[in-house]
Amino acid sequence: MFPQGFKWGVSTAAYQIEGAVDEGGRGRSIWDTFSHESGRITNGDTGDVACDHYHRYREDVELLSGLGVDAYRFSIAWPRIQPDGKGPANAEGVAFYDRLVDALLERGIDPVATLFHWDLPQALQDEGGWFSRETAYRFGEYADLVGAALGDRVKLWITLNEPFVVTVYGHAFGMHAPGEARMLDALPTAHHQLLGHGLAVAALRGRSASPITIANNHSPVRVIGDSDADRAAGAAFDALQNRLFVEPLLGLGYPEGLQLPVREGDLDIIAAPIDALGVNYYNPTGISAPSTDELPFDMVVLDGYPMTEFGWPVVPEGLTELLTDLHTRYGRPMYVTESGCAYEAWPEDPDRIAYLSGHVEAVRTAIAKGADVRGYFVWSILDNFEWAEGYDKRFGLVHVDFDTQVRTPRASYRWYRDFIAGTR
Ligand code: BGC
Repeated sequence: MFPQGFKWGVSTAAYQIEGAVDEGGRGRSIWDTFSHESGRITNGDTGDVACDHYHRYREDVELLSGLGVDAYRFSIAWPRIQPDGKGPANAEGVAFYDRLVDALLERGIDPVATLFHWDLPQALQDEGGWFSRETAYRFGEYADLVGAALGDRVKLWITLNEPFVVTVYGHAFGMHAPGEARMLDALPTAHHQLLGHGLAVAALRGRSASPITIANNHSPVRVIGDSDADRAAGAAFDALQNRLFVEPLLGLGYPEGLQLPVREGDLDIIAAPIDALGVNYYNPTGISAPSTDELPFDMVVLDGYPMTEFGWPVVPEGLTELLTDLHTRYGRPMYVTESGCAYEAWPEDPDRIAYLSGHVEAVRTAIAKGADVRGYFVWSILDNFEWAEGYDKRFGLVHVDFDTQVRTPRASYRWYRDFIAGTR
């Protein structure tokens, strides 16, 4: 049914769960700054405490163990390792991830580490952040430090999480940190992240024998309308969301028509061989011809589907379509590095169970059609700090009471546990 060695997992990210932002010698990140600016986050929430995972990681590892997952995807907070984004490793920061990794291994859970899930050290932002090429080199150095510390125990590396979202939401629309709204002028941040990815791959290869991937958020395009202009808009969106952050990694260069600050040798660095593609999937996107000249497309809400509490359409067959398309386009092994939904209900959460069972079935169908999918990670184990939505949107298999930090597994936690057990 699922291939031998298929990895069932769950995912989190440092800023969304750790809290303890002033402990262990951690420096400030752009999300500390952004979340403390008024009007940025729903209810003025911040990640200062989040799920207090920094102090409660043992309890959280017990929850992972009870779930029976093969693997746990977490991210390493760059400002815990390098408080100012450069220089030697901060021993206390490294020690936290050392403890976490060892606790996972003791429970037989593979540590899957993401190096960058959006919490750029503020000191690097002050020097231009991802608009600066230098940030790519700092990222390579940071990857080398993490590889040296954890390279013997991390089982799968993920360099960047969703560089598309960093470029588009962080630098084009300004809804995420660092809050820049520069529309298409944000594109250099895409190139610099990918350059950083390539440098990080090279650094990790020198430190670890484990496979390396990247987690991209992909979205199948649904063209709304049947004019040539609508179809051209669909192709432009597809290039930006589904191709820009994949093709240069595979030595295929950038999609045509994008202006990027590429220097000689960059494309070779970016094309450092990787072992798989990471796919984060939430929903397809409706696209039609642009109504302004700011972007080459309009994004249209898809109707006719059930919606999560985020207002995102529930379209499990979109995951089959995505995985089979990526297989046809690139023919690489893939991991579904995130899949999940926001529903508040607890302890019973039938909508999440329906969502997840539909999506694992969609993966099974994609595999039956020939896609080489090697793992599936639910976003997320815990309710957590959902970026611009603060604590308002809940993605957890486990409910978190943010006043008391009490964790209560939802029915979906038991469903996923039993489902995983049933595949053995
Ligand atoms: C991100 C997560 C986020 C999730 C739900 C993904 O885009 O990687 O950090 O919480 O989507 O919005």
